[in-house]
Amino acid sequence: MKRTSHISELREMIAQEKNQGRVIALVPTMGYLHRGHLTLIERAKQTGAFVVVSIFVNPLQFGPNEDYSRYPRDLERDASLVEESGVDLLFHPTTEEMYPRPIVTYVEVGQLDSMLCGAARPGHFRGVTTVVSKLFHIVQPDLAFFGQKDYQQYLVIRRMVSDLNLPIKICPVPIVREEDGLALSSRNVFLTPEQRQEALILSRSLNEAEEIIQAGERSARKLETRLRERITQESQGDIDYVEVRDAEDLSEIADIKSPVLIALAVRFGSTRLIDNKVVEVERHV
Ligand code: PAF
Repeated sequence: MKRTSHISELREMIAQEKNQGRVIALVPTMGYLHRGHLTLIERAKQTGAFVVVSIFVNPLQFGPNEDYSRYPRDLERDASLVEESGVDLLFHPTTEEMYPRPIVTYVEVGQLDSMLCGAARPGHFRGVTTVVSKLFHIVQPDLAFFGQKDYQQYLVIRRMVSDLNLPIKICPVPIVREEDGLALSSRNVFLTPEQRQEALILSRSLNEAEEIIQAGERSARKLETRLRERITQESQGDIDYVEVRDAEDLSEIADIKSPVLIALAVRFGSTRLIDNKVVEVERHV
């Protein structure tokens, strides 16, 4: 596996591969890799492309009171994991390499970036879209892989690519879960054993929501109320949002129609977890 922290060196390596006609696939990450990331890599590898993984904890997407400084990092462990996964090139720039001076140019996807996680974390998606477009310009991939645990992020990036006519195919990859249902996240390491147990309420209530919809419930508000009640009754979690939205554009809906996104953000202690499920509604003829 090749690796570099320098943009100029990376560009040369990519140019060599492009000259040989290779398709380039990018898996952007913030490191502290888990099975969810390894699944993104596996999907990228399956395409036969030259696979580039980037590891960069992007300060621009963290708010002033968020966990940028305590975000877990272990570059050498990550490097061994990506090497074992058969990645072709690891790009791990420093903050100085990515932001040599204070940035004044941003990429911003309106509307989609200010609801749900965007409402709770102002500026977060602007930070994500700015760094992802920098990575797209640096790596110039043909394909880029994003996990659906960050469903809103996936939609925001898909919209950015469409609006800016970037010649990149965005490939979504389903959520990877622990056996007991907890969605994998680098932030899970911050949970105490009790909080980790309580956090199971997220996947459990998403499963219940799907059952309620399949049993015929069509009111988005009633479903949200049921989910809020269950989370409050069965955990100490502090709800940030419980939303039932259109899965294509995240618009608010009154009536549940296919496909629908059920999205949750709940804080356990100081750790904010998100989870979601896209539910197809059975059509009765
Ligand atoms: O999903 C993430 O890990 C990050 O938001 C991303 C896409 C790597 C941008 O920093």
